[in-house]
Amino acid sequence: MVEELLDFTRIEDGRFTVSIEKLDIEAELEDAIFSYRELFKQKGITLEHVPSEEPLPIIPGDPERLKQVFLNVLDNAAKHGGSGGKITVKIDLAADHEGSGKDYVRIAVRDYGPGIPPDELPHVKYKFYKGSSKARGSGIGLAVCEEIVRLHSGVLNIENAEGGGAVVTILLPVSNNP
Ligand SMILES: Nc1ncnc2c1ncn2[C@@H]1O[C@H](COP(=O)(O)OP(=O)(O)OP(=O)(O)O)[C@@H](O)[C@H]1O
Ligand SMILES: [Mg+2]
Repeated sequence: MVEELLDFTRIEDGRFTVSIEKLDIEAELEDAIFSYRELFKQKGITLEHVPSEEPLPIIPGDPERLKQVFLNVLDNAAKHGGSGGKITVKIDLAADHEGSGKDYVRIAVRDYGPGIPPDELPHVKYKFYKGSSKARGSGIGLAVCEEIVRLHSGVLNIENAEGGGAVVTILLPVSNNP
C-alpha cells in the first residue's frame, strides 16, 4: 500500500515512468496467476485461466508494471468479488479491435461477485474512490493500474459482466506504431 501511494505521488508529479522492452505477455500473466492461485484456493476461490487459442505476439511493455496491474486486478477480483467463488482470466488477440485497424492483446479478469453498483461505476477508477466497498484498501489500485496501461497506449475498462460479477478488460497494443 505504501508502494502504491508512492507510485501515486510519482504519477501526480510526472515522475512515474514505464521501461518498455519486448515482452512475453502471456508469461507475465501466468506468473501473476501462479502467485495467487494457492492463496485464492485457500479462500475457496477457483482461479481459472483461459489461454489464447492462437499464439500471441511479443509486445512492447514493462514486465514489472504490467505484473503489478495483473496482481492488482486479481486482488480486486478476490477482495471485492471473491464471494462468487470463481475468477476467470482470459487472454486473447483482439485483431483490428473494433475496426480501429490496430491489434491488441486483450486480458479480461472476470469475477462472479456482487459487481459494482451502477452509480459507482463511473468513479471506481478515480484515486481514493472506494465506493460502498467495506473491503480493506485505499482505493488507489485501479487508478495506478489505469495509468500504467495508459503509459502503454492501452485501455483499461471495468464494467459489470453479463450474468453477474465484475469484469476488467485490459487492451495492450501489439505494436508501438501509430
Ligand atoms: N471486482 C470488483 N468487484 C466489485 N467492486 C470492485 C471490483 N474491483 C473494484 N471494485 C470497486 O472499485 C473500488 C476501487 O478499486 P481500487 O482497486 O482502486 O481500490 P481498493 O481495492 O478499494 O483499494 P486498493 O486497491 O488501493 O487496495 C473498490 O473499492 C470497489 O468498490
Ligand atoms: Mg484494489
